[in-house]
Amino acid sequence: MKITTKVNLFITVSLLVSLLIVNTIVFFLFMKTTVNMEAHLVFKNANEMLKKYHISESLTLDKNLLNSYMPSHSFIRIVGPTSTTINQVTNDKVLVQKISPTFSTEKNFELRPFQEHQNLVVHVPIHQNHKVIGTLEISERLSGLESRKDVILSIMGTVTVVSVLLSFLAGRWLSAIIMKPIVSMISTMEDIEQIGTLKKIGIQTETKDEVYKMAATFNRMVSKLKENSDKQRQFISDASHELKTPVTVISSFITILRRHGTQDETIAKEAIEAIYLETNRMKNLTKTLLSLAELEGSEPVDIKSVDLVSLSTALVTQFMQVYDRPIILHENSHSIFIKGDELKLKQVLIIFLDNAIKYSTDVIEVFLESDQHKGILRIKDYGIGIPEEEQSHVFERFYRVDKARKRDSGGSGLGLAIAKNIVNLHKGEIDIQSKEHAGTEIKVTFPLTN
Ligand SMILES: Nc1ncnc2c1ncn2[C@@H]1O[C@H](COP(=O)(O)OP(=O)(O)OP(=O)(O)O)[C@@H](O)[C@H]1O
Ligand SMILES: [Mg+2]
Repeated sequence: MKITTKVNLFITVSLLVSLLIVNTIVFFLFMKTTVNMEAHLVFKNANEMLKKYHISESLTLDKNLLNSYMPSHSFIRIVGPTSTTINQVTNDKVLVQKISPTFSTEKNFELRPFQEHQNLVVHVPIHQNHKVIGTLEISERLSGLESRKDVILSIMGTVTVVSVLLSFLAGRWLSAIIMKPIVSMISTMEDIEQIGTLKKIGIQTETKDEVYKMAATFNRMVSKLKENSDKQRQFISDASHELKTPVTVISSFITILRRHGTQDETIAKEAIEAIYLETNRMKNLTKTLLSLAELEGSEPVDIKSVDLVSLSTALVTQFMQVYDRPIILHENSHSIFIKGDELKLKQVLIIFLDNAIKYSTDVIEVFLESDQHKGILRIKDYGIGIPEEEQSHVFERFYRVDKARKRDSGGSGLGLAIAKNIVNLHKGEIDIQSKEHAGTEIKVTFPLTN
């Protein structure tokens, strides 16, 4: 069953049930008060009759005198203590037969239905010298009550039917309004499922209700997914392009080897050396790609308190030994503790030092500073620099300022992209300042351990 039908059915049935309960209560209250009012009137008449015609003394009734107290289908009788009729006047012979005389020492009334009519029977005791000597019994058909009962029942019936009908129509209208965007969402999702391309839902009005929020959230999710799938596609095309270059080199050297065989030792040596280098490049490239993919999956990093000073000192010493280049470390405190994953932070520093070494020949300087909230790392070189218009792109994957200069240095253009990812994972910030032929300074800030 559709949600709209369910909601509609529920509302309509609840309304019907409440209307039936309210109507029943109103109906019974109405009947009770009407009968009470009628009885009250008859009691008043009885007292008047008793006083005016001295009935307690004569115990007789004069039809001519009592006519004005007798509506159609009624009787007045005096009942003795043995519940026998002493005297009676009537204009309805059947009524007199059907309602047997009842002696009562109390003032009371009751309803006696017969022939589909309600008849009111009232008893008023007749006193003589403080003793009850008989009962004045008056009965009349409540024809007014019946006609009013019919009217109120038909009003209630009409109101109930009209309300239920209106509620049903309003429910359908309301659910159609609520369901419209949901239906459009479903059809969009079905389209996505069938065609396989991501699509947004058209939102006509900004209603700010839950349904609007749901559609807006869905659209945001679609944007994110689109962005991710675009990134992924770009990544795959970049990566395959990168891998194609070494493969081409290897295959061309293999062609040479096949043509000239291994007889020409110089050519063979050269080819093997080139194949060895390119294979190594490919190995490194795939390793880097894997580490980048791992970072992009934004794995939770193994966070500890890491001392930036001791980490940098160790790495700088190692780099100086391996590359035989002067690297000067300036620190303004003995330790700067930041929250982070030690291995990944090391990787960031290696990426920056590697670039500084590759793209400069002069001294390299590393600055370590801290303020109240942040630890700051700056790596400064006096090398070839990056042209201003290229600076915003160097953090993109596979981006190299000058394709030609990369060939010699053997870079793949992934270092800074990886570094940026790691810094982001550490809630840090990265900033680059560079001037062509003057040098480059990379500044990274990390939040300090509390
Ligand atoms: N210190 C620097 N001085 C001059 N140019 C730089 C410097 N650091 C980065 N660049 C430029 O930015 C580009 C991107 O740097 P990135 O480290 O991402 O890639 P790469 O060094 O080419 O390759 P690898 O993936 O091996 O690091 C480089 O190719 C280089 O042109
Ligand atoms: Mg690099």
